[in-house]
Amino acid sequence: MDIKAGIIGVGSYVPKNVITNSDLEKIMDTSDEWIKTRTGISERRIVSELEATSDMASKAALNAISNSKINVNDIDMIIVATVTPDSPLPSTACIVQEKIGATNAIAFDLAAACSGFLYAMNIAKRFVESKMYNNILLIGAETLSSVVNYDDRSTAVLFGDGAGAAIISKVEEGGILSIINGADGTGKDYLKIPAGGSRIKAGEYSIKNKLHSIKMSGNDVFKFAVRKMSEESVKAIEKAKLSLEDIDFLIPHQANIRIIESSAKRLGLKKDKVYVNLTRYGNMSSASIPVAMDEAFREGKIKKGDKIVLVGFGGGLTWGSSVVQWSI
Ligand code: ACO
Repeated sequence: MDIKAGIIGVGSYVPKNVITNSDLEKIMDTSDEWIKTRTGISERRIVSELEATSDMASKAALNAISNSKINVNDIDMIIVATVTPDSPLPSTACIVQEKIGATNAIAFDLAAACSGFLYAMNIAKRFVESKMYNNILLIGAETLSSVVNYDDRSTAVLFGDGAGAAIISKVEEGGILSIINGADGTGKDYLKIPAGGSRIKAGEYSIKNKLHSIKMSGNDVFKFAVRKMSEESVKAIEKAKLSLEDIDFLIPHQANIRIIESSAKRLGLKKDKVYVNLTRYGNMSSASIPVAMDEAFREGKIKKGDKIVLVGFGGGLTWGSSVVQWSI
């Protein structure tokens, strides 16, 4: 008998430290007014010196598990979507496995930048529906403050730290109705962290030239995002054999309010049907969609039976979109 995969629990964690736009005004040539009007961001969260990606990921994971009907021993796979792992080796997923005590789970990381959570959700859906694994823990977690260059005002104001998690398992009603992922490597230079891998090794040269930090061609990413967010949402809706009128809510990747508003407009969705939390958190890359999903659920904005579009884009370039019928 065919089974359907869906979300049975969500959770999130953001660090306590708040960095406001006026804090940034004190360390770089920027203004609260520029940041708010160009991006929609007012503040972001930043880890303490003792925190790393796996710490936030584990807290979000434990939240998601306690909000679901399973316990930690039932988890048989952990995928951590991140571009800011604790270290290249071991995977952050293995560190999380130990921290939360999920001894029965295999564990690996996935790198697809801000689309990472939706890439991981596609993998989880296939494994659950093929009955190879039953309960998959997906985490999007980022410590972007560790790769931000605070001398580069065009990127430093955009990013924040945080983690969101979801459990994907068999559901009786609703579930992941469609999911699409894509990539276009010709855009690989639009968004990158050049050093720290095998091409430009960590060392004096890379540190002196700040090559361990994010470089972005903002305008190119902006144009790509505006087009892809609405195009890919429509494709996911069609793949689910639905129409725009069937959609109850949009949870987009939280990069820039202008990108979100233009996508919502193209999809004909009113403001109250679109979740926005980038005002408080900035862009948390792979964590942005699962944190938004957890908050929207806790605030009662999405409820059982609702049909929700999740859509994101990111470095690579990569993208993902999905229609989920909420099962909890
Ligand atoms: N404060 C003040 N002025 C600034 C700042 C700042 N923080 N940053 C840039 N400026 C200045 C620029 O120097 C420029 O000045 P000039 O005209 O004198 O040269 C001016 O503002 C306009 O700069 P633009 O880059 O054209 O500004 P734009 O309106 O395009 O906004 C932004 C820039 C916000 C980065 C926008 O392009 C954007 O959001 N792009 C998408 C980025 C994105 O989504 N990235 C995340 C991808 S997800 C992932 O995978 C991690």
